[in-house]
Parts: sequence; structure tokens; C-alpha cells
Amino acid sequence: MDKNAALWNLKKQLEKQNSVTLNLPNRFSFKEHDVFEFEEALGFFDWSLKDRQVKIDLSTCKSANYQTLSLLVLYQWHLKNQGCTASVILDNEEQGASAMWKTLGGLGTFPVLFNPNQTFVGRAFSSKPLIPLRGSDDFKKTINEIEKFSEEFNVKYTETLRYVVSELLYNTLEHGKKFGGSHLRNIRIPSIINFSWYESRRAIHILIGDIGVGIKSHIEQAYPGLENDIEAIQLAIKPQKSGTFGKADPYTDKNNAGMGLYISSNIIKRLNADMHIISGNGLLHISPRDITERTLKNSWLGTLVLVTLNLEDEPTFVLHSLMQEFRDLAKQEQSNADQAESDHKFYFSVEDYFGKYAEDKEAAIKFKEKYIFPAIQEEKLVVVDFNFVVSSPHSFLSALLASPIKRLGMSAYKKIKIINASPEIRETIDFIFDDNT
Ligand SMILES: Nc1ncnc2c1ncn2[C@@H]1O[C@H](COP(=O)(O)OP(=O)(O)O)[C@@H](O)[C@H]1O
Ligand SMILES: [Mg+2]
Repeated sequence: MDKNAALWNLKKQLEKQNSVTLNLPNRFSFKEHDVFEFEEALGFFDWSLKDRQVKIDLSTCKSANYQTLSLLVLYQWHLKNQGCTASVILDNEEQGASAMWKTLGGLGTFPVLFNPNQTFVGRAFSSKPLIPLRGSDDFKKTINEIEKFSEEFNVKYTETLRYVVSELLYNTLEHGKKFGGSHLRNIRIPSIINFSWYESRRAIHILIGDIGVGIKSHIEQAYPGLENDIEAIQLAIKPQKSGTFGKADPYTDKNNAGMGLYISSNIIKRLNADMHIISGNGLLHISPRDITERTLKNSWLGTLVLVTLNLEDEPTFVLHSLMQEFRDLAKQEQSNADQAESDHKFYFSVEDYFGKYAEDKEAAIKFKEKYIFPAIQEEKLVVVDFNFVVSSPHSFLSALLASPIKRLGMSAYKKIKIINASPEIRETIDFIFDDNT
């Protein structure tokens, strides 16, 4: 008996030591007096907690907004994935974060995670629906939800919103998707979307969030060696830049690749709207006036996009003519960029010079002296195309690239670009890069 009681006490004590309560700040919002402010809210998230009992106390928060609160859903999924238990502490007040949490349907956080057909069940009628995104069915549900909302809007807005939101949904579904580890039996962790329709202000806020790899890691698959998250987001909104590029010619099977964020951000500039893209510790703010960037002290694990829009009664734009305009603009921008690039680029095909089996080490050394070093001298980008090359041994690749990489140091990652290499060749080259930088 005594022994059992002692054991029980010990267990309770261990649990207590292992548990941590995170108090939501008194204000938990992305807006401070009408100015966007992300730092404080993001500072709440501790991404490092593992194997702990985590309680999130919402009763300490008197003023929140729905977009920010929805992030607690993703955060709890993250905690669970890290081996934590996660729960919320609520109060019974009519206002404040606890009440809003119930309105959102936050109580369904774990049922939604573990059951692919479950949705968040908020208060009977909610103008702030929270929707999990796991695949094409959820995609359709989300688009339906927008249509339901926007019956009251001008049609022009409905079309435009549908366009922008679909692009953002595709992105989070394709590029931001996240699978849980062993604690979550490898299930897919949904992304989330929250619409808030502030009828009296005629404003719409839309948040789309994931805890995936983030924009930098994704787009680096095609554009390696980016400095930081901001540079990655800036690249992502340029026309025809996509993390899915890199293999063969992407345009043969996907003619709209890399245009989603370019067109969406241009639409935002034309509306009375703002778009904030947060990924890692990078923040890009697109508004009708300008595009500004900021490095955040506190980062978000994956990617968040917040679109805020004020509806006017007589919008002056027409979506389809806007789209044509943006496509033309993109073509122009791209051809300018191509021209500028060819002035600053030395491109060569390995197959042209060395054949399908690129192994002549002497020839590689001569080529390097004659072309690669001079190109580096002129500060050109060296693009090495391995298309059609079947194999290439380490000694050849090293003769061709090791000393140029060494001379460039870390900037070699930016100044030497390898394209269309088979996985083995790619791996060997990565090794040479590592060895010489
Ligand atoms: N939620 C996200 N998570 C990770 N990467 C993203 C996300 N959204 C966008 N990206 C990155 O930005 C790039 C550009 O996006 P976009 O302009 O829509 O083109 P596309 O989707 O056709 O590649 C993507 O290819 C991807 O690398
Ligand atoms: Mg896209």
C-alpha cells in the first residue's frame, strides 16, 4: 500500500516535471492598431519541445484574432508529431481567446488530424470557417465555401478570390505537404485555411498555413544556394520560377509552372489588398504601394500566407483582362531576364564536348583552362548541362570542377549551376562541392 502510494506520487511528480504550460499572450493577433505585427504572435511558438506534456492556456488571452488562433491547430499537430501531448486550457468567458477557439471548432483539432473525413465543427453559423486541407476533396470544399461567402460580393471579387485562393491552395497541397513521423503513424498532416468575413467592415482575411519544408528548402531543389528565406520568397514570386523545375524540360508537361505566385501577387497589387508571405524567418509584404521584406526574430516552421482585402462597391478591374496583361508582362520580364542572363552566363553542354561517357580527364583540364577559368574571371554564372550524359567518373568531374570551385569558395554554390545531371553524377558533384568549399 505504502509502496503503491509512493510510486503513484513519484509518477505524478515526474509528470509534473515533464509538463509545461504555455500562456497565450494577452494579445494574440497579427494586427496592432491596424498595423500588421507578426513578431509577438510568432514568438509564442516554441518549435523545439519534444516528449513533453504541453498545455496551452488560452484563458490568459483577452484579445485574439481568428487567423492567429488557427495557427494553434497546426502547432498542436506539430507538438504531437514531436512526441508531446498537447491540450488547451479554456475559460468560460463569453469573449476572449477561449470563446473564439470554440467558435472556430478548435476542439476538433485531433479528430481532424486522425480522421481524413473529419472537418472542424464550429458554432452553428460561423462566418470564420476553419478548413483542413488534405487533398482534392478538401480543395473543392474550400472553393465551395468561398462561393458561399462571396454571394454578397461583387462577382468580380468572387472570380478573383477564387483564382488567388486556388493558387495558394495548390501550393500548400503540393509544395507544403507534410507527413508525420512515427508518433503520428506517418499520416499526412493537413494544411489549414481560415476565412474571416468582417461584414460591417467589408473586409476579408484569408490565412493559408502549413508546417511543411518551407519555401526556401522547396525552391532550392531547382535554385540551390539561396542566402536566406527572404531571397527564396522573392524568387518564388517571380514569373516562371518553380521548385519543381530541374528535371528535363518542365514546359513540355506543365505550361503554367512558376506563375501562381507571380500572378496572385500582381492581382493583390491591383486590388485594395495586402498579401503577407511568411516562411521560416522571412516575411514579404505585397501591397498596392510596394513590396517590402523583413527578417523576423521568430520564425514559422513552414509557410503562411495571409491575404487581406477591403471590398469596394465598384471595383474597376476585370479579371480576365488583368490575367492577359500579367501574362504579357511576365513574358516581357522573362525575356529581359533571359537577355541579361546570357550576357552574364557561360553555358556548355558536357555531351557536346565530351560525349555521353564523359571521362577524358586531360580534355577536361584543357577545357577548364580555356573556358571555365576565364568565365569565372569575368564573374559569369557557369551553367554545366549534363543532359544525355550517361556516366561520368569522379576523376573527370574533379578535373573539370574542383579547382574552379575552390577558387570561388562558398560563392561556388551560386556561380556554378549544374543542370540535368543523373542522381549519381549529381551526388559526385555535391561531394566535390563539399570537399572544396
Ligand atoms: N506552401 C509552400 N511550401 C513550400 N514551397 C512553396 C509553397 N508555396 C510556394 N512555394 C515555392 O514557390 C514556388 C513558386 O510557386 P508558384 O509561383 O505557385 O509556382 P508553381 O506552384 O507552379 O511551382 C514553388 O515552386 C515552391 O518552390
Ligand atoms: Mg503554384
